[in-house]
Amino acid sequence: MPKTALLITRRLPPAIEALAQADFDASLTASDTPIPDLLARAKGKAAVLCCPGDKLDAATIAALPDSVKVIGTFSVGFDHIDVGAATARGIAVCNTPDVLSVATAECAFMLMLTAARRAGEGERLVRSGKWEGWAPTQLLGTGVAGRKLGIFGLGRIGREMAKMARGFGMEIHYRDQNRLPPDLEQGATFHDSDAAFLPHCEFLSLHAPGGGGTRHWLDAERIARLPKGAVVVNAARGTLVDDAALIAALRSGHLAGAGLDVFNNEPKLDPAYLTLENVVLLPHLGSNTQETRDAMGRVVLAGIKTLLAGGTPHNQVR
Ligand code: DGY
Repeated sequence: MPKTALLITRRLPPAIEALAQADFDASLTASDTPIPDLLARAKGKAAVLCCPGDKLDAATIAALPDSVKVIGTFSVGFDHIDVGAATARGIAVCNTPDVLSVATAECAFMLMLTAARRAGEGERLVRSGKWEGWAPTQLLGTGVAGRKLGIFGLGRIGREMAKMARGFGMEIHYRDQNRLPPDLEQGATFHDSDAAFLPHCEFLSLHAPGGGGTRHWLDAERIARLPKGAVVVNAARGTLVDDAALIAALRSGHLAGAGLDVFNNEPKLDPAYLTLENVVLLPHLGSNTQETRDAMGRVVLAGIKTLLAGGTPHNQVR
């Protein structure tokens, strides 16, 4: 029986490309950046395996060939896909939930510690060759133990972040659409408004999905409600943050620091960030462990297979 044709839009881990080739007539690419000719290459394919950065907006989905029945994304976030437009065309969508929660929370935690302890500045100092030795007042930062962590979005990744933070003796506060049951809350304090939540956030970590509903949630007004000297972490989506407001607060000293793994318009981030010492910048590494990326590949390929067979996988998004 001929294998089903699958377009893959980015180079994937070798084990996942091998799996895709075993299960599908897979069209691979050596490119680490979005392919420019996605629509042309989707011709005759039953499924497309895309990545964040591939813009599958309503217009692109409308122009996909009729052969395409499934879109899988090599990510848990699917704000780059207009799921409504896909559904309207009878195209099912799946993603990679669960398997990257710990890795992404680790990245957020690393950013929080790096920003709090000014490790980025320290590393740059050592590399510059200008370090003159230990000094009692050098690069003084702040600890996280016993401090308050506010989590915006206590979903799978936010809960892993909370678990790690509890190990550091942090007090967890959270904001979400609804209060979670006690077994998921694990003693975290729920706030039913931003105004009630933000003043508790000595550290604020963003874990909500991107998209219209959360666009520029962290704006000047909300930043002003954070305690002076707070640290902001974003390993979710760049669109959650109003860059101009965050940059102004980092410049004024209202915020002590920030750790950012994601950006508006990435990879073309606001160049003002590059001028600030008190921001840690990573190139969207959230899920970048070998084992996590392999697991993501297995989950999305299994989801595509199930959807093409008419089933309903756990990772279908609607
Ligand atoms: C995701 O899965 O949405 C991440 O941002 C990509 O690692």
